[in-house]
Amino acid sequence: MHITMIGSGYVGLVSGACFADFGHVVTCVDTDAGKIDRLNRGEIPIYEPGLDELVATNARQGRLSFTTELAPAVKGADAVFIGVGTPSRRGDGHADLSYVFAAAKTIGEALGEKFTVVVTKSTVPVGTGDEVERIIREIRPDADFAVVSNPEFLREGAAIEDFKRPDRVVIGTEDARAREVMEEIYRPLSLNAPPLFFVGRRTSELTKYAANAFLATKITFINEIADLCEKVGADVQDVARGIGLDKRIGPKFLHAGPGYGGSCFPKDTLALLKTGQDEGAPLRIVETVVAVNDARKRLMARKIMQALGGSVRGKRIALLGLAFKPNTDDMRDAPSISIVASLVGDGASVHAYDPESMEQARPLMPEVSFHDDAYGAIEGADALAIVTEWDAFRALDLDRVKTLMKSPIIVDMRNVYRPAEARKRGFTYVSVGRS
Ligand code: UDX
Repeated sequence: MHITMIGSGYVGLVSGACFADFGHVVTCVDTDAGKIDRLNRGEIPIYEPGLDELVATNARQGRLSFTTELAPAVKGADAVFIGVGTPSRRGDGHADLSYVFAAAKTIGEALGEKFTVVVTKSTVPVGTGDEVERIIREIRPDADFAVVSNPEFLREGAAIEDFKRPDRVVIGTEDARAREVMEEIYRPLSLNAPPLFFVGRRTSELTKYAANAFLATKITFINEIADLCEKVGADVQDVARGIGLDKRIGPKFLHAGPGYGGSCFPKDTLALLKTGQDEGAPLRIVETVVAVNDARKRLMARKIMQALGGSVRGKRIALLGLAFKPNTDDMRDAPSISIVASLVGDGASVHAYDPESMEQARPLMPEVSFHDDAYGAIEGADALAIVTEWDAFRALDLDRVKTLMKSPIIVDMRNVYRPAEARKRGFTYVSVGRS
């Protein structure tokens, strides 16, 4: 199969490289000439484990190429994937579809004679496929094409694994020829027998949002239970295990923490809320989830303030982990942003370390001093807060940490240490949902 991927950002690049690794011939297109130049030199603009080797191998073997020239790449393609961004529209929370529609227009202008499947991989609200179809049809009334929805369910940091061993692949189409093309594209997966789940296009579009909203709800639910655990002297990790062993609930996405962040949950829950409002079917549970999570991120700094007797004025706080989760350099909607703002607002000096995201973090938190390693950030600190659970922070030399700190206080927002162990080492130890 010849596949063209429009948009060489996170979704486009991972999906394009994985399709090439399946054996397809993939052309990744982007309007950003600088990005395409870097990719052609083998530089990967994002941090994703394994992606650099995957791109290098497939490029070397001639199955993966990068270009700014959309038209020739679309003409010869069996399938054209739209993998551009759909950020929150400023002001109203609706998904901004201008990049998707611009891509549809350029596809319409470039389509060749043969049957082409146009696939939306970007997360797009219900009905976007209809609009993409209308835009292309208007430009090319004669063209032979079908528009399909095929949402991605990739976690940053585990995206290649998720792509190659998915729980399911959701494909929304009512067109028999398009279904055949999609079956052929995902055929290499059938070795691992993942379900290709064919549904209507609108159903597929909604499924993506429903999945993210449900996961965000699960996290927010356990976060509120964690707060109650702290009040009543229960242990949230045991509660999570206890409920997660029930197969109807499942053990995943029940880790209490500082609130969910990232490029998907915050924007997708907002976009789903807008759709619900527009359609007269308000999603009150999701509305509450969004509000509770926003408040949680803002309130997290209070844990540190309370551990220091109510205020952090004049105190030096070490923050370990800034990215919204480990194994990514992504700072979008990271809880650390709200935490830093509150700490700095209360008069603290903040010293931080993150293995990958400091370059991205710097402009977002100009008041913070950044360090080359965890111990550099910890030196002289009045309190240490673990905000993102990078593996490197799970096995800190606690004796060294204690010697370096001015006062031995740890606020562990990801529950990576055992309370009894930390206390035995002489720390005042505060975590989430455990006493
Ligand atoms: C998510 C979805 O998992 C993926 O299917 C979708 O396509 C894109 O959005 P991602 O944003 O990369 O992926 O990260 P994920 O691992 O899902 O974590 C999201 C946020 O939730 C992070 O801030 C994480 O720390 C938090 N989280 C996750 C918790 O606080 N507790 C959990 O139990 C799980």
